[in-house]
Amino acid sequence: MGLSITNKILKSHLLEGNMLPGEQITVMVDQTLGHDLTGIMAAQVLESVGADKVKTEVSVFYCDHNTLVVSSENADDHLYLKTAAERYGIYFSKPGNGICHFLHCQRFAKPGKIMLGADSHTPTSGALGMIAIGSGGLTVAKSMLGEGFRMTTPKVINIKLSGNLDSGVAAKDIALEALRILTVKGGIGSIIEFTGEGVKTLSVPERATLANMSIEMGATTGVFPSDDVTKQFLKAQDRENDWVELSADENAQYDRVIEIDLSTLEPLIAKPHMPDLVANAKEVQDVKPNSVFIGSCTNASYSDILKASKILKGRKVHKDIDLTVAPGSKQVLETLIKDGVLADLVESGARILECACGPCIGIGQVPCANGISVRTSNRNFPGRSGCQSASVYLASPETAAATAVTGHITDPRDIMDLSILADCKEPVTYKVDDSSIIKPEDVTDYKEVKVVKGENISELPMRGPLRDKIEAVSVIKLGDNVTTDDIIPGGSNILKYIANIPMFAEYTFCYTDPTFVERIKKLKNSVIIGGENYGQGSSREHAAMLPMFFGTEVVFAKSFARIHKENLINYGILPLIFKNKDDYDKIDMNDTFVIENVFEQAEVGEVLVKVPNKNFKFTTLLEVSAYDLNVLKQGGALNYLKNKLKH
Ligand code: F3S
Repeated sequence: MGLSITNKILKSHLLEGNMLPGEQITVMVDQTLGHDLTGIMAAQVLESVGADKVKTEVSVFYCDHNTLVVSSENADDHLYLKTAAERYGIYFSKPGNGICHFLHCQRFAKPGKIMLGADSHTPTSGALGMIAIGSGGLTVAKSMLGEGFRMTTPKVINIKLSGNLDSGVAAKDIALEALRILTVKGGIGSIIEFTGEGVKTLSVPERATLANMSIEMGATTGVFPSDDVTKQFLKAQDRENDWVELSADENAQYDRVIEIDLSTLEPLIAKPHMPDLVANAKEVQDVKPNSVFIGSCTNASYSDILKASKILKGRKVHKDIDLTVAPGSKQVLETLIKDGVLADLVESGARILECACGPCIGIGQVPCANGISVRTSNRNFPGRSGCQSASVYLASPETAAATAVTGHITDPRDIMDLSILADCKEPVTYKVDDSSIIKPEDVTDYKEVKVVKGENISELPMRGPLRDKIEAVSVIKLGDNVTTDDIIPGGSNILKYIANIPMFAEYTFCYTDPTFVERIKKLKNSVIIGGENYGQGSSREHAAMLPMFFGTEVVFAKSFARIHKENLINYGILPLIFKNKDDYDKIDMNDTFVIENVFEQAEVGEVLVKVPNKNFKFTTLLEVSAYDLNVLKQGGALNYLKNKLKH
């Protein structure tokens, strides 16, 4: 049986397992990335375990999310990230240099490699034929220290592309069509592999748009072949030596095959509030937005912005629209300036923002209350834009530009002949200037670097090893589908304390139960009771760390969301599942729980819990691997790493 690209890369990195369906495997990680929200966590881990230098081939911290520095807390975070990068042998990309995934494709991604990134859109680098997976900062830090990455052997979904896109139809429309077919759940447990003759017609930035949005399809990541197009892109980036050829075998087997004929696609748009609520742009042409944003790690390449500028050239932005454009990187911005594209954009009335995430994550250009925004980014959940009541539509740069001109959602082919866009290609060579990246070799003696910890940077909380007898009181009882946002909410006012654990912890469950923090502070040891799918939503690991900070030792739930369960283990909290779900109804807040012989019971995987104040007992299940059990016994991944580094 032939191998897919996915299986070739995973096999070449396999440390443990046989890649049987559903089996746990461990793979070696070559590269990592983090940024000014998540990389800080990774840096805190490196510091707290007493790391020397990272062991990966390439690790990069990018400063791209909270770049505006509207408070000294931001500035503290940036300086901490920079100096930690210098201390631990990590590349540091300065604010203004560009968006992490975009820059990673340009300067670091390599065909055939595996990357773990502390950001959900890490899959973008799959455009260059690498397996790039998003995870939490602690897991990424573990990889930096040479630990393999543990995952379930993924299924492989093949999206086979044929034909050519018409002018005015974009890579974003392919991603939206794939979302229409797969929905936001269709890719769960799978890696999406793009193949077929149609792939050859797509540039690397166009492939990046698709790989980027594989995460919206629920997939672990997306991957492309490494072919002549990849080689030309790397050559244009002065990195030709990084190229290796990579393709699926003729007879590669896939778990599912989806065929998309590019020549049949139309300009599409995702309606509020899910990326898979896809319609033809024409179907929603009555919608009149207040703002349009062209940018983000999904759609901010040179050719994306060039195409938008061709539609805007000689026209003016509609009086009721605020149009902002943020190029993906300094390299893109400089090329747009050199080629006069920026002048055309400015003349049309577009506002140019710095090369950063910005509006994509609600940092700047937040829509008005009940506002409507058309964006080229990848997510449109309520609140993602920074305004809970806003409605966000996701579209290609061409559709966004046409909409900015007319004032209503517009199929770009309706306002002009778009055959001129056929010439809007990526440059044959890019201006390569890495002066905004501080390299490990720029640092003369990394051991002498002082990591600067401003007032906003705290130590990470550590806990002792697992206790063989747990006695604790339940501090909160929750229902089904509690999200990590319910546990610790986002928003720039709260997120600015992400590196300041005691301050950040004050917001734990702040909207769900405003008395939570006051009550948990009175308890030495506590448990949390959850319903089904506890900890769903974003991978925010502070949702596990902060309860641990306050002394939570166990979470009982009917079921756990996968990443949150991993995070609970990483922070030394036992994730126990009710064997009989009816037992959930028999326990309450303020009950006392006693678990004896914890080690012995944990080995078996069945844990008996006593509730003395109710004279009641119930059985729970501990479903973890031997590796995870070892981590739990040591009190979490920080202790595990610390102990490992000692030996
Ligand atoms: Fe940044 Fe938005 Fe991408 S926050 S990393 S541009 S998804």
